[in-house]
Amino acid sequence: MQPIFQIRIQYIKQVHEIKENYFVKKLVIPLWNMRAVIHYAVIVIVLFSEAITEDVLNNRRFPDDFLFGVATASYQVEGAWNEDGKGESIWDRVCHTVPSPITNNDTGDIACDSYHKYKEDVALLADLGVDFYRFSIAWTRILPTGFNNNINQAGLNYYKNLTKELRANGIEPVVTMYHWDLPQSLQDLGGWQNELIVDSYVDYARILFSELGDSVKYWLTFNEAKQVCDGGYGVAQKAPLIESPGIGEYLCAHNLLKAHAGAWRLYDEEFRKDQEGKVGIAIDTSWYEPFSYNSTADIEAAETKQQFSYGWYANPIVHGDYPWVMQAKIAVRSEQEGFGKSRLPEFTQEEIKYIKGTYDFLGLNTYSTSLINATDDPDPSKGWAQDAEVIEWQPDEWEGSSSSWLKVVPWGMRKILRWLKETYNNPRILITENGYSDNGTLADDKRISYYQRYMSSLRDAMELDGVDVMGYCAWSMMDNFEWLAGYSEKFGLYHVDFNSPNRERTPKKSAIWYKRVVETKCVVDDCVDAKL
Ligand code: BGC
Repeated sequence: MQPIFQIRIQYIKQVHEIKENYFVKKLVIPLWNMRAVIHYAVIVIVLFSEAITEDVLNNRRFPDDFLFGVATASYQVEGAWNEDGKGESIWDRVCHTVPSPITNNDTGDIACDSYHKYKEDVALLADLGVDFYRFSIAWTRILPTGFNNNINQAGLNYYKNLTKELRANGIEPVVTMYHWDLPQSLQDLGGWQNELIVDSYVDYARILFSELGDSVKYWLTFNEAKQVCDGGYGVAQKAPLIESPGIGEYLCAHNLLKAHAGAWRLYDEEFRKDQEGKVGIAIDTSWYEPFSYNSTADIEAAETKQQFSYGWYANPIVHGDYPWVMQAKIAVRSEQEGFGKSRLPEFTQEEIKYIKGTYDFLGLNTYSTSLINATDDPDPSKGWAQDAEVIEWQPDEWEGSSSSWLKVVPWGMRKILRWLKETYNNPRILITENGYSDNGTLADDKRISYYQRYMSSLRDAMELDGVDVMGYCAWSMMDNFEWLAGYSEKFGLYHVDFNSPNRERTPKKSAIWYKRVVETKCVVDDCVDAKL
């Protein structure tokens, strides 16, 4: 066995021992002890991470069974916000608030009008030649009240027709069951902060599996739980725009993880045998690069941040509980703040067993990278970002995009994939989102360059590090409603004319480029075949 793997195993053992200890002693953990544990982890990260920095394009073809797709989400493209019995969602409510919190007072009321233009969309997808289309279902179209007392047949029909049309064109539907558009009626009861939502979500999942499960074989329970919880209930950056940092986001995550597990178990117990599908979750993260590999503290800090980010959701789903470092840090800070118990809720032993292992594959949404520095003077304010006690930043000189947070750092793709492989026992991974924003130009060479370099880095991760990636999904099929930024940031392969009632779609240069990638399974012109 290679020494790096021995170190890894040693690290995992130590984490478990100290975690046991933590449960016995309740809350009080010497911080230096925690640092020692992370230290083992970071040795592994160092050994794995230092080498990758160059941008040489990989010219090897992707494997024959590798899947290429594109993604959208219901609120961002459908429009028809109050048609055919659809209920109000939290994004409808936020967009209709006066004064509007959205750039240019934009709304998703019409968006790309995909509710009416789905056949045209599918024809474009067929022309692109993609293997799959990732779209999401609006809970409020299926259950206008949020509860299963009133099933809206018109809403169900829309998704049945869409999946039928996709299948007729040989395109695999990959369905996100929740991409942020919670029924407002459930938010009125507290939304993801009220445990009641766990059952409501599983009821909703049952309807989806039983009504659409014959044609849908890939399900994603959630898109970007971190944005749902930290954005929605921590820092008020996503609907329902609640600001309750340090408590709200953790409560949300706790319920969301139980809802995820409930849906996966429901599928596993009642639907899998007949439908033979797979259920995963799309978790978002950047790659967090230590500012300096000469600083153990920076290396530890970067690992901590990664655990707070992807690990917040993946660790419970893979290993049963929140990352040890989150438990420890939040417990210690809560105690210092005078709380009687940690602000991070605890799972019972039963819940740990219930949540552990509830995935058939892991989804990764990734766009960018940040640098991480350790700090001796952590921000004392409450909140998920502050609780990690690190400094996160992106150098100004890094190549930018139209989104302030999105710097172009292709090598981060390989590093995050390698980290996922090492941290979660070599899971099967689907890249559920990756993409670049600009102002909507048709000559989008910078988008092509972004995709090409990121996919090359992904190919490296598969070939050189043996990461098990089953497919890649570009965000987004077309320009759409970019949440608080409205229509000011464009991610599409297809341009959409938002000034025209017909919402004409036009392929950008990147659509033509991506079509060729899908066709040749290669990101450069001079491909060579390669065995993994
Ligand atoms: C989300 C998308 C969003 C994209 C670009 C992801 O966070 O899943 O809905 O449009 O990134 O910001």
